[in-house]
Amino acid sequence: MAKFRNTIPASEITPEALYINRRQFMKGGAALSAAALLAACGSPPPTVDEEGTAVPAPTSTPLPDTLTSEQEILNYVNFYEFTRDKEGVAELARDLITSPWEVAVGGLVRNPGVYDVDDLKRRFDQEERIYRLRCVEGWSMVIPWLGFPLHKLLAQVEPLPAARYVRFETLYDPAQMPGQRTDWYEWPYVEGLRLDEAMHELTILSTGLYDKDLSPQNGAPIRLVVPWKYGFKSIKSIVKIDLVEDQPESFWMRSSPREYGFYANVNPNVPHPRWSQATERRIGEVRRRRTFLFNGYDEVAPLYEGMDLTENF
Ligand code: MTE
Repeated sequence: MAKFRNTIPASEITPEALYINRRQFMKGGAALSAAALLAACGSPPPTVDEEGTAVPAPTSTPLPDTLTSEQEILNYVNFYEFTRDKEGVAELARDLITSPWEVAVGGLVRNPGVYDVDDLKRRFDQEERIYRLRCVEGWSMVIPWLGFPLHKLLAQVEPLPAARYVRFETLYDPAQMPGQRTDWYEWPYVEGLRLDEAMHELTILSTGLYDKDLSPQNGAPIRLVVPWKYGFKSIKSIVKIDLVEDQPESFWMRSSPREYGFYANVNPNVPHPRWSQATERRIGEVRRRRTFLFNGYDEVAPLYEGMDLTENF
C-alpha cells in the first residue's frame, strides 16, 4: 500500500522501520525575566550537549533519518502547562482527563461545530506520517505520528472568504495543569497559521504516535503537527480552532516578540537572537547534524515566494 508521499522513505529509516512496515494506514503579557526565558527556550551551545559533554563538530553531508525511540518521544517533552522540566512532564500529565474531549471550530466559517475527538477519529482515516520534528532549542526527533490532514476538518466548517488565518488554543485548566498556576506566561497557549499553511497537505491534526493514542505529555487527545516549522508551532491538547481575519498573536510572540515570530519556519540562515540554528542534535545521537531550510520539506517553499524570511521569521 502506498505510503504518504512526504513521509520519510522507509529505506531511510533504520531499525525501528521494521515496525513501520507492519502497517501503513489504520482506521480508526507577562514580561518574562531573562532567566525564565533561558529556562523556557534553552541555550544550545554548538559544542556541548545538555550534560555539558563535548560533542563532535557537525557533519557537512545529510545523515540518514532514524526513527526516534518511543521512550525518548514519551519522556523528553516540552509542555509548559505542566512544567518546564522536560523529564518531569510525563508524571505530572499522567492523569490529564483526555476523554471525552471536544474541539470547538468556529469564527469566520459557514458551519461552526463542536467535534468530539472520538468522532473525528472515526470520521477521518488515521494516516501514519513519519515527520522530522525540529525544536527551536536545537534538538530534533523523527516521529511516526497518526492523524489526519487539518484541511479535512476545515472543509467541514467551510471557511468564509474573509478568513485568512487559523488560531488554535490549548485547554486552560489550572486545576489539572500546574504550570498554568504560575504567572511566568500568559495562558492559554495559543498558536496560529496562515490559511494556506493550514490547508497544506503536510499539516496534520495528530491523535497518536507509534500506533497508539497520544499520551497526555505529547498533547493528548489531539494536537497540531506542522513539520517544516519549529516544534513550538505544533500546539498540544487543542480545545478551540477559530478562522480569523487578522494574524493571531501566539503564546511565544506574546512572551518574547523579539525572539519569536509568527512564521517560525525552520531556517538555518536565521539565528535565534541567543543561538545559531545552523545545526541540531538528533535525540539519541551524539554528532550534530546540519539543519535544512523548512526542515527539509522543500515542497512548502512556494508558500513563501517573494517573502523576506529574515524579516518574517
Ligand atoms: N503546546 C502546548 N500547549 N504547550 C507547550 O509547552 N510546547 C511546544 C509544542 N507544543 C508546547 C506545545 C514545543 S516547544 C515543542 S518542541 C513541541 O510541542 C514538542 O512536542 P513533543 O513534546 O510532543 O515532542
